[in-house]
Amino acid sequence: MPNAKLLIANWKMELSATESRALAADLAGRTVGLGLGSLTVAVCPSFEALAPVAEALRGSDLLLGAQDVFWEGSGAFTGEVSPDGLKELGCRLCLVGHSERRRVMGETDEMVGLKATALLKVGMMPVICVGETAEERESGRRDETVVRQLRAALSGLPSSSAEESPAVTVAYEPVWAIGGGKPVDPDGAAEACRLIRDELSGIDGRLGVSFRVIYGGSVDVDNLESFLSRPEIDGALVGSASLSADGFLSLAKIASVLSPRI
Ligand code: PGA
Repeated sequence: MPNAKLLIANWKMELSATESRALAADLAGRTVGLGLGSLTVAVCPSFEALAPVAEALRGSDLLLGAQDVFWEGSGAFTGEVSPDGLKELGCRLCLVGHSERRRVMGETDEMVGLKATALLKVGMMPVICVGETAEERESGRRDETVVRQLRAALSGLPSSSAEESPAVTVAYEPVWAIGGGKPVDPDGAAEACRLIRDELSGIDGRLGVSFRVIYGGSVDVDNLESFLSRPEIDGALVGSASLSADGFLSLAKIASVLSPRI
């Protein structure tokens, strides 16, 4: 049985708190009665917008996510945000290791691993972003990069607590495909997602973790179906095309049709 699909909006630092709240309220209102079926839809606003967006989403089926987190629970870490702090605001998931953070903020594989583990410990789903740069791709190092990032991110996975299997999402986001209107061809995306699934299959049985593998990078209404119709791809992480209610709802409609019936 294929996994239910997952559609995640990454609003990056594109919207103010006021704009984020207005967009969230619009989405929340317009998804009522839309019949998303088994599709899960989440939005990840910037930190300052989390509280107003949580308020706007109350009572809707849309989940709240954050774009980053720190791995400690509390302490003298000026400027950082804890997993429990995010959970208290209503976040159910959190992106980790987005390529913009790796590139601009110097986030390392090890830091991404600490963040993913910290989220799982408080019961939040990490959305672990992996993907090669253009240079790594051109020199034939796509697989090596993706596997290295993935192994580091999962190195601290807590062993299964038996009652509830923790959920982890891995987003394959080739750096060169992000924000440029130049997505990977769907065969290439499916191939990389298959590689990720193969890598995860050992962990899955051993620790009882449930995984989903999604694609991100220049996803839009014209190409979403070509990604989601692949059995290897359980969803999409969307940046630019998630910034308008009309655009994101169109994506949600396409994804809900492609998500298995429950
Ligand atoms: P994009 O961004 O859809 O604008 O390419 C995706 C992402 O960075 O997560």
